[in-house]
Amino acid sequence: MVQPSLRHDSEEYAMCRRQWSFRVNRRPGVSDSDLRRMRDEWDQRAKARPLHYNSPSRQAGEEQIFFEYGRRHVEQELLGEVQKLERPEQKRALEIGCGMGRLMRALAPHFASIDGVDVSPAMIKEARSHNPSIEYPTLNFQANDGSSLPFPDGRFAFVYSMGVLTHLPSRAILESYVVETARVLEPGGRFKLEVPVESGWGRLSGVIPYPRAVKPFVPSFASRLALRIYKTDPLKRSDTYIGKGMFRYRLKRIMRDAGLEGAVADTQQGRNGWLVGRKPA
Ligand SMILES: C[S@@+](CC[C@H](N)C(=O)[O-])C[C@H]1O[C@@H](n2cnc3c(N)ncnc32)[C@H](O)[C@@H]1O
Repeated sequence: MVQPSLRHDSEEYAMCRRQWSFRVNRRPGVSDSDLRRMRDEWDQRAKARPLHYNSPSRQAGEEQIFFEYGRRHVEQELLGEVQKLERPEQKRALEIGCGMGRLMRALAPHFASIDGVDVSPAMIKEARSHNPSIEYPTLNFQANDGSSLPFPDGRFAFVYSMGVLTHLPSRAILESYVVETARVLEPGGRFKLEVPVESGWGRLSGVIPYPRAVKPFVPSFASRLALRIYKTDPLKRSDTYIGKGMFRYRLKRIMRDAGLEGAVADTQQGRNGWLVGRKPA
């Protein structure tokens, strides 16, 4: 049976929100000031150069190329997980930090519906205007608080996030999203979340040309520090952009404590990593 998407003006949605706001407690360490800063600074990025801050490589500035990159990312990084689901076309997916919806658009044919949340209301406005509901009726966009997921338990078969948890100013927010992912996944549902692994790979690659052989020895915390000094764009120097790294063992523990089964995998570029796995059935 195809599961219809929950309309945001429906009674059912209002009920879910009420239940949700009772149940979800702010995780220790998630501060109001971080949540506010993420919202305000991503709003500024969305208003200034949304394509650029969503996908900083120079070629991706053009809208057509930007959405084409989204399609490629989906093919290379996400479709493998989607194919492990039974009948995904009858199920719902969720993207954390959907930006302008380029990944949702590319994944739309594979799911009955996809919800996207983003901390920036300005980014959500961009997403809606670039993916009009007349053309993409199964996509829903909404702003969230930047650390929790406004959906009832067990709602989604697939939760994914790319280029978002790598930009968080606090590790507690990442932890909160992993716990929330476990809550909103249905039993047997799958997840793939890009995470900032403190792996020794420098995030400076592509910024300062040091020899490849040196890269594994440049710890990413040092790279982040250097980025703060090196970057001239204040919106790229902020910790809501540079993010914070996390060691593998800690990422694994967060996943396990949230009740999820999975692993920390490398990304293709070798800079960040993926938390990838499933919620036990
Ligand atoms: C680099 S963009 C990536 C967007 C999208 N995932 C893509 O690949 O096209 C990062 C997005 O994450 C959003 N974001 C940043 N921090 C967030 C948070 N704590 N919760 C939800 N969204 C967040 C930003 O507003 C921005 O739209």
